[in-house]
Amino acid sequence: MFKHAMTYVLLTALLLFPISGNIDAAEELTLYSGRSKSLVQPLIQQFEKETGITVKVSYGNTTQLAAALMTEGEKSPAALFWAQDAGALGAVSKKGLFAKLPEAIQEKVPANFRHADGSWVATSGRARVLAYSPERITTEQLPKSVFELTQPMWKNRIGWAPRNASFQAFVTAMRMQAGETRAEEWLRGMKENGAKTYAKNTPIIEALAAGEIDIGLPNHYYLLRFKKSNANFPVAQTFFKANDPGNLVNVAGIGILKSSKHQKTALTFVEFLLSAKAQQFFVSEVFEYPVIDGVIPNANLIPLPALLKLVPTFDLNEMDDLEGTLALLRKVGIL
Ligand SMILES: [Fe+2]
Repeated sequence: MFKHAMTYVLLTALLLFPISGNIDAAEELTLYSGRSKSLVQPLIQQFEKETGITVKVSYGNTTQLAAALMTEGEKSPAALFWAQDAGALGAVSKKGLFAKLPEAIQEKVPANFRHADGSWVATSGRARVLAYSPERITTEQLPKSVFELTQPMWKNRIGWAPRNASFQAFVTAMRMQAGETRAEEWLRGMKENGAKTYAKNTPIIEALAAGEIDIGLPNHYYLLRFKKSNANFPVAQTFFKANDPGNLVNVAGIGILKSSKHQKTALTFVEFLLSAKAQQFFVSEVFEYPVIDGVIPNANLIPLPALLKLVPTFDLNEMDDLEGTLALLRKVGIL
């Protein structure tokens, strides 16, 4: 009798809670992350702790992850794609692989920093800036546009990093905004003006401090790292005039894969990244720009509304032609 009762209880339990894994599966998300593990792991752990949801992360190069998603199509295990740049998001979006995010999520992020069709939103931004030596250049002398840098007064005074992904994104922005011909002319002009090539952004800042160059074109946060340990570090930075391609903001952003069975759970993660807490993390840890209001800005960052007035106005989704940019850089002999 007792045995029968036990069997009954077990059978009932199996019917009510099938072992197929449905319950657990809903609480597990696969994330393709183009953002580095060292940067985002603490944030992901915080999310797991708060929600009880497990995040399985595949870290990789943003462009390669986008290519993987396009190959996998509906069979992809990914629920989320967190990319380091808008071009990769635009490419996945064009393939129709993203689900539409709810209006309430879209509206949290400024229109310049998301896809108009609601397929992805930015999670933080890295601005291109004009870095310079305040000892050798007065504020009156500062160029108003990146196009002025081909003028004779800047001969042999500029540093850039053509292999850097953010620099290449800026060239893509220039091609989209000013056209192929103008971008090519600018690149040739810069080369003729003796622009010095650096491997990446950090050496540009060091070269400015060392007096090797007077102007550089890095991302905004590199100087902030130097200023953190030395407030008097002898380099300054500013933006060009409003709408200049030299003010491009490269966004990191996220979208939910339409093919995922975990739409709601995935949305929880997107909401988490847009929370004040997560946004503060990007500002405090890596000096990135937040994409929502109400985050305490770094003293060295301009407020988000001011930044939005400066950024070039064009569709970030058109940033997906990296190949075209690489071809142009090779044609001009810069790569
Ligand atoms: Fe960087």
